[in-house]
Amino acid sequence: MSCSRRCARDVTDVGAEMSEDLVKALDELTADRPRLRDVAAVARASVEAASTLEELEEVKVKLLGKKGSVTLVLKGLGALPPGERPAVGKIGNLLRRLAESEIEEKTRVLEAARADASLAAGAVDVTLPGRAPAVGHRHLLSRITEEVTEIFVSLGYRIAEGPEVEYDYYNFEALNQPPHHPARSLNDTLYIRRKDPIDEDPEDILLRTHTSPMQIRVMEKESPPLYVISPGKAYRRDELDATHSPEFHQVEGFAVSEGITMGDLKGTLEAFARKLFGSDRAVRFRPHFFPFTEPSAEVDVSCFACDGAGCGLCKGVGWLEIMGCGMIDPNVFGYVGYDPERYSGFAFGGGLERIAMMKYNIDDIRVFYENDVRFLRQF
Ligand code: PHE
Repeated sequence: MSCSRRCARDVTDVGAEMSEDLVKALDELTADRPRLRDVAAVARASVEAASTLEELEEVKVKLLGKKGSVTLVLKGLGALPPGERPAVGKIGNLLRRLAESEIEEKTRVLEAARADASLAAGAVDVTLPGRAPAVGHRHLLSRITEEVTEIFVSLGYRIAEGPEVEYDYYNFEALNQPPHHPARSLNDTLYIRRKDPIDEDPEDILLRTHTSPMQIRVMEKESPPLYVISPGKAYRRDELDATHSPEFHQVEGFAVSEGITMGDLKGTLEAFARKLFGSDRAVRFRPHFFPFTEPSAEVDVSCFACDGAGCGLCKGVGWLEIMGCGMIDPNVFGYVGYDPERYSGFAFGGGLERIAMMKYNIDDIRVFYENDVRFLRQF
């Protein structure tokens, strides 16, 4: 039992006992003094009737204030015949004590009631079922982007991000794709501004078609050794269908230093593929062509769904293509002022949607952009 409760009740009991004694004594003393008997009765009744602390305060003034009924009994003593004074004085004192003790007791009762009411007003029903906060989470694409970049950061790469609206120079020309190169075609490039012969600043500006311009942007500013990973958006003039989107995400990576070989490239991408798709994955490099790497290759990882046996995911071939790569073409070093006799490097790049689609067996690229929570919640 808590002490405070017991103490509170004891005090109340003492108050009640005291009031009872006082009432009894007053009853006897005022047996033949009806006026004083009335003062006592009215005092008790008005304290009893007060239903708020404010009302009780008014009652207190009416009884014990300067002109209060109890005060006046005591103040009037002087006007009484001397023989009456001791008896009425005693009654007056008892009246005052009774009024004080009853007011005190009532104050306690009303204060407790007020506290109960304010508790009830702000009450929390802890038995009601809770309302779960709606906690969001990162989009699958953001997660895959982080996962991929983290792997390279753990290998010592640093992240560099660049503009999505890009000059032709960075997107094509310095990447060894001269003006006649078919990759600049209107068919697959979204131009913001086309070259105009009478324009003073005749440069094509476009939405970058890949993240490779970041190779040039970083190399142009900095010197080897460089180990850079660059995720971001890329754009192509493609119709939206299950496997194409005009806006998509890529990740670019490159390393430039002295003595970097194709062996380094293979080891790096093998480590990456195993970290992302499982430690028993095999990696193969298929010869390919990119204008800015020589030699170039496409990187396949053994299908993690069938372990290379051939299944629906890998369309029966046992391998999944994850990105393009190659040794940076010495011509590219020419554009950024690196000595190709001294430095060598590799680059790789691929689609992040593609990687996520393979990893999570997603068969339609459009689900990444539709923001259907039934899809988003699964990851
Ligand atoms: N940029 C190429 C693409 O978009 C990929 C790539 C990057 C290839 C780096 C080689 C080196 O297809």
